[in-house]
Amino acid sequence: MYKTLIRPILFRFDPERIHYFTFSLIRNLSKIPGVKALFRSLYLVEDKRLERELFGLKFKNPVGLAAGFDKNAVLYNELANFGFGFIEIGTITPKGQEGNPKQRLFRLKEDQGIINRMGFNNEGLEAAIVQLKKNKGQLAIGGNIGKNTQTKPEDYTKDYLECFNALHPYVDYFVLNVSCPNVGSHAKLNDKDYLLELIEAVQKANKTFEKQKPILLKIAPDLNDGQLDEIIELVQETNLDGVIASNTSTDREGLKTSEKRLEEIGNGGLSGQPIKTKSTRVIKYLAEKSGKAFPIIGVGGIHSAEDALEKLDAGADLIQIYTGFIYEGPSLIKNINKEIMKKA
Ligand SMILES: Cc1cc2nc3c(=O)[nH]c(=O)nc-3n(C[C@H](O)[C@H](O)[C@H](O)COP(=O)(O)O)c2cc1C
Repeated sequence: MYKTLIRPILFRFDPERIHYFTFSLIRNLSKIPGVKALFRSLYLVEDKRLERELFGLKFKNPVGLAAGFDKNAVLYNELANFGFGFIEIGTITPKGQEGNPKQRLFRLKEDQGIINRMGFNNEGLEAAIVQLKKNKGQLAIGGNIGKNTQTKPEDYTKDYLECFNALHPYVDYFVLNVSCPNVGSHAKLNDKDYLLELIEAVQKANKTFEKQKPILLKIAPDLNDGQLDEIIELVQETNLDGVIASNTSTDREGLKTSEKRLEEIGNGGLSGQPIKTKSTRVIKYLAEKSGKAFPIIGVGGIHSAEDALEKLDAGADLIQIYTGFIYEGPSLIKNINKEIMKKA
């Protein structure tokens, strides 16, 4: 029904406006008595074979919602009814910020992809905490954190620490997002020495809490083998809890969308089917080269149960979806979980 009836209507409108329209629709529908139960009966698959335990956390199933969809943590309670095993909110920055000028979100229909240069638009830490206090505790919630665009390089760590310390009581795991192609100052966030400093600072802060939370690093799909070797070294040197592979790509190779259209769109991170192989390659490389030494959350271009199994076979322990959710709708989560059950 989603692909034949709902998607053709949604895809007629500006992608960002439709995103917020869908948010209020889901929120309002969920308030109607019986609708939550209807969503749950349509999309939820519960089975022992789907349950996972990773970095000390329990997941009802291995299919999560990737960061960027519920940036401000306003819809995770309702989204839990669509069958996800976990939801990652953010990227959250200390102060709220507008992000880049609009239009900044584009569909690439022929490629089943999206290009976005949102630029960490979010309402900031305090607003996120207000929302996270409403957590009904249905699922594991990840907190994806970043730095404000205006922050000077010498203060990047301060921004991550501010988010980490303030969100610590409210999320189950953390993701240091150092791989967004849309926020500038990329070079520093790719530098191994800086990453080492950042991870150690956050881990030190983690130790000040009674209960420590897992910390993961989210990386780009465009890293070469040498850079991936550095990531493996970094994770092992710091004992980081895991890696999320991957964020969006700056590469435009092999797209069906015309050069002219791509030029009109301009910069941004590419997601969806066109990055599937790239992100799977990164997962496989990290898993094989490290001898599966740390957990990996696989994300990038999962649009079918087959794509999901490919990521798991490559070495992912959990997976996440974003663009596939937009193109395929909520039945994708159910289809993936059913296939995983069959294989178990
Ligand atoms: C519109 C949009 C906004 C995103 N915002 C974020 C973000 O704020 N933080 C982040 O870590 N990833 C963000 N992502 C990246 C996704 O979490 C995911 O890593 C990427 O899209 C690849 O997965 P997919 O092919 O299933 O979409 C965003 C992706 C899209 C399409």
